Amino acid sequence: MEQENEIIAEVMKNGPLLIHGNITVKDKEGNESKRENVTAFCRCGVSKNKPYCDGAHYNINFKG
Ligand code: FES
Repeated sequence: MEQENEIIAEVMKNGPLLIHGNITVKDKEGNESKRENVTAFCRCGVSKNKPYCDGAHYNINFKG
């Protein structure tokens, strides 16, 4: 049984890392932003909106 407020990381086949739950993301300058519900982080390296997935992994046929 899932705990309330549990954060789950899910690796999508050939796609992003999904974080299920409400999180705070701190960028390299230390700025924080709140993300709710599901956040997709890029694993392929080609997103133009890093660290988030922008769907570009489809265009490069990312495998991983
Ligand atoms: S994983 Fe989606 S753009 Fe990189």
